[in-house]
Amino acid sequence: MTEKDFKRSSFEHLPKSGNCTWKSPSNIALVKYWGKKENQIPANPSVSFTLDACATTTTLEYTLLDEDKDEFSFDLFFEGKPKISFKPKINKFFERIEEYCPYIRKYHFKIETSNSFPHSSGIASSASGMSALALCLMSLEKEIVPEMTQNYFNQKASFLARLGSGSACRSIEGNLIVWGNHKDTIGSSDLLGVRYPYEVHSVFDKFHDTILLVDKGKKQVSSTLGHQLMNGHPFAENRFKQAHQNLLKLQKIFKEGDLKSFIEIVESEALTLHAMMMTSLPYFILMQPNTLQIIHKIWAFREKTNSNVCFTLDAGANVHVLYPESEKELVFEFIKNELVAYCENGHYICDRIGFGAKQLAVDI
Ligand code: DP6
Repeated sequence: MTEKDFKRSSFEHLPKSGNCTWKSPSNIALVKYWGKKENQIPANPSVSFTLDACATTTTLEYTLLDEDKDEFSFDLFFEGKPKISFKPKINKFFERIEEYCPYIRKYHFKIETSNSFPHSSGIASSASGMSALALCLMSLEKEIVPEMTQNYFNQKASFLARLGSGSACRSIEGNLIVWGNHKDTIGSSDLLGVRYPYEVHSVFDKFHDTILLVDKGKKQVSSTLGHQLMNGHPFAENRFKQAHQNLLKLQKIFKEGDLKSFIEIVESEALTLHAMMMTSLPYFILMQPNTLQIIHKIWAFREKTNSNVCFTLDAGANVHVLYPESEKELVFEFIKNELVAYCENGHYICDRIGFGAKQLAVDI
């Protein structure tokens, strides 16, 4: 696919009004996206598990305007209340996608959005939020172009979501998604997320991700700034090379279900992500003392029990605890007895690998 494939010379027969609702999940990267080029092109390929419980539900109501406006016309509601602070991000998203969706200027939109997880959980909602909105716009586009295939619908939804937030392009489908050109992954693309195309061992079915909420505050450094700090970073080139190698190593691991090697790559990726933050200029640390306590507890538990539990981190202090279905009782006991004490107010979220976004209702 190229960018041209997502443009169209004419969009006729615009519906007067309608609405649609999508519920789109978050995702957790195993090989991390950290560093980007112009136009939301990733500096390296990444792969993620799509999640299930952590999701954003967005309803888009659209009404055809009598005439084009100079500015994008939309109202935004978050959890039932107007949310002016989200508007600049949506406005920027509309600016970026306008050349692919010129019809957005012809509508007034009412966007109502809510998250399944508490807003102040330190969980980034950009992946689920931007993918849900991109899917809603694609439902409108499908009204305009009814002959559109399901495949094109998903591809363009991922392409648009990427322009809102990079990691959002990995939230359209499940359950293992690759984003970014990787010479050894057929079909991979910098423009959109694709389903991992090779064999995956059944040990990865129903994988669990329990998210330990160590710090529910707002991030001190945004991902967008963190990505920028990879420009001119002294270790950037090697880091990007390593991501390509790790993605290749994972192919054998996914196929054979080799959990020991899986753990080594996933934990190394998480620590490398944070090492990049600690060695950028300005440098910063997003882990908290309790993040490290949890990591050490996981290592000690693994040593003692030979369990296949491991951790990963996103751009924050929270810890994602990953484990296979066969160990769910054992690991969940361990989490409750030994890890929850390090969570803010004892809060955590039980999630698991999921199968992508769902349309909830169409009433047009
Ligand atoms: C650490 O997708 O939030 O979670 O493209 O600027 O919106 P923008 O960044 P974002 O970055 C996510 C970074 C990460 C790793 C990952 O999800 O791959």
